[in-house]
Amino acid sequence: MIGIMDSGVGGLSVWREVRALLPGEDLVYVGDSAFCPYGAKPPEVLRERVGGIVRYLISREAEVIVLACNSATIQAIEWCRETWPEIAFVGMEPGVKPAVAASRSRIIGVLATEASLTGEMFARLVERCGEGCRILTQACPRFVELVEEGRLSGEEAQSAVREYVEPLASEGADVLVLGCTHYPFLKQEVARLYPGMTLIDTGLAVARRVKDVLRLKRSGPGSGQGGTAFLTSGDPDVLKRLLPVLLGRAEDPDLVISGLEPSLFSQEAQQIPS
Ligand code: DGL
Repeated sequence: MIGIMDSGVGGLSVWREVRALLPGEDLVYVGDSAFCPYGAKPPEVLRERVGGIVRYLISREAEVIVLACNSATIQAIEWCRETWPEIAFVGMEPGVKPAVAASRSRIIGVLATEASLTGEMFARLVERCGEGCRILTQACPRFVELVEEGRLSGEEAQSAVREYVEPLASEGADVLVLGCTHYPFLKQEVARLYPGMTLIDTGLAVARRVKDVLRLKRSGPGSGQGGTAFLTSGDPDVLKRLLPVLLGRAEDPDLVISGLEPSLFSQEAQQIPS
């Protein structure tokens, strides 16, 4: 089984790539919507939440766990790898490298959460891959709110896109990195308002990495049925309503959607206000 987690529904932008690339695998998706957003939370809080979800996915026999969340990866993946060395963790990082390759103006805009942009990992990423380019950064908290509410288009989405992208466009950025898994769901509005911008989303690259990791881990073919269980720490009815909006298909009555036990998390983590 492949476990996929995010602060909420953003990681579904990675789930759909994994699903398409590995149609026979069983997937368990966990969205921590009750604690969303992760983007402005301190590292110790993120670790506590991510840890609870990882423990749950291990209890369901995950072979690979995807942190389909840039913020969780940046703040917690090293800790996860040290804590559970037997599990293969696949994480995300903003696609600075492909952005550098795609930019003609040599000015790149990185859209990501505050947690991702202030982490040491991001500074290292820019040092490693940002060579010769000016890297502008922008946190987009309204994008996360919009996607969690399923408002992917319309006036509010457009005003948020303008607010975050205009300063980067006016500085001359020609490539935008969608460095948070919620943001690809607003890709259409960004592309419509800024048609000259190249948009970089690393969801497919992550799915390919998951495929490679599975190949290395297994000696034979997997025994999955191609199902997905979707779990949320928030309201399962909200998730039920959001899935067809985000994944663009009619509601599938076979989808398994349920809540997540709060007892997975320590008392402290349960009491932190979302
Ligand atoms: N989807 C998450 C990411 O990739 C975080 C969004 C949030 O909870 O702030 O960083």
